[in-house]
Amino acid sequence: MIPIDFSGKVALVTGVGDNKSFAWYIGKALQHAGATIVLAVHPRMLNIVENLLTSTDADDVARRKLPDGSEFRPVKMFRCDVSYDTMADVRLEAMPEAQRRHYAKYTEDYSVSGVVNAVGQEFGGIDILIHSVAFSREVTKPLIDTSRSAYHEAMSISAYSLVSLVRAAVPYMANRPGGASVVGLTYVAAERVVPHYGGGMATCKAALQSDAKQLAWFVGDKNIRVNLISAGPYASRAARAINPDFDKLIAHAAEHSPLRRPIEPEEVANATVYLCSPLASAVTGQILYVDCGYNIMGT
Ligand SMILES: NC(=O)c1ccc[n+]([C@@H]2O[C@H](COP(=O)([O-])OP(=O)(O)OC[C@H]3O[C@@H](n4cnc5c(N)ncnc54)[C@H](O)[C@@H]3O)[C@@H](O)[C@H]2O)c1
Repeated sequence: MIPIDFSGKVALVTGVGDNKSFAWYIGKALQHAGATIVLAVHPRMLNIVENLLTSTDADDVARRKLPDGSEFRPVKMFRCDVSYDTMADVRLEAMPEAQRRHYAKYTEDYSVSGVVNAVGQEFGGIDILIHSVAFSREVTKPLIDTSRSAYHEAMSISAYSLVSLVRAAVPYMANRPGGASVVGLTYVAAERVVPHYGGGMATCKAALQSDAKQLAWFVGDKNIRVNLISAGPYASRAARAINPDFDKLIAHAAEHSPLRRPIEPEEVANATVYLCSPLASAVTGQILYVDCGYNIMGT
């Protein structure tokens, strides 16, 4: 038997927005393998996630269940907006009114460095870092119609955030027993034209893929590995925002994939466990396609 045992390991997971997020499934799988899970949640999503973790609704309870019958129980949740490296970057006066109303109430440090420092210090280090964040306010607009400001914002939140998170986490991830692992999520639109994937998001994923490889070099000497999973289309909240007909896109990918079916979020989570495990100890700077093989096709 090949054991995967993350007991004693601390996993900082970004990108849980609800109980359908890839990050939700990844957190569950890492916990099932023994890891201690800490969530860094978008400030406005924290209450939603808290409710999903405590709700008595039968569907919510079922979605928390792990294969061994226990429940998904992150030990702590932090508000984190990956737009900000430090709180000095926050400009309340530049926010739209609806956002400012909420952000003005937060008293804690919700920047990348603030949250990573808090986690690293409270838990004595970080073994696993999950980047599962993406946003473009113009995701429904094709690239050619995307405004400069939306493009830059999308790049900041969806791509640069990986650089920022890794930089902040290096002191806590360096030379951990057995090494440490960063895993992010990308999409085939980084390499091929997927016309509906708008708002600059394809460019963000191309940047993310290049950055992951460069980061693998910059942190490899500290035994930190950096890899991405290129996931097949899946109907999360973010994906549905791209296109109301997202189910048709999933069906198209399924029909044209070697395995003739859509992916399941658990398959992305299992691949993440592999990448974080000793089984992948020499794997870094890679993009692992978890897409039923769709990326190899010419149609
Ligand atoms: N769903 C798909 O078809 C698909 C396919 C390939 C890759 N991906 C990638 O998977 C990752 C997770 O997406 P998902 O499909 O689970 O959708 P999701 O909406 O559940 O997750 C996206 C997360 O990003 C968070 N986020 C957005 N802006 C943020 C900010 N400024 N600060 C902090 N958090 C912020 C949201 O709160 C949300 O939790 C993304 O990188 C996405 O591009 C998704």
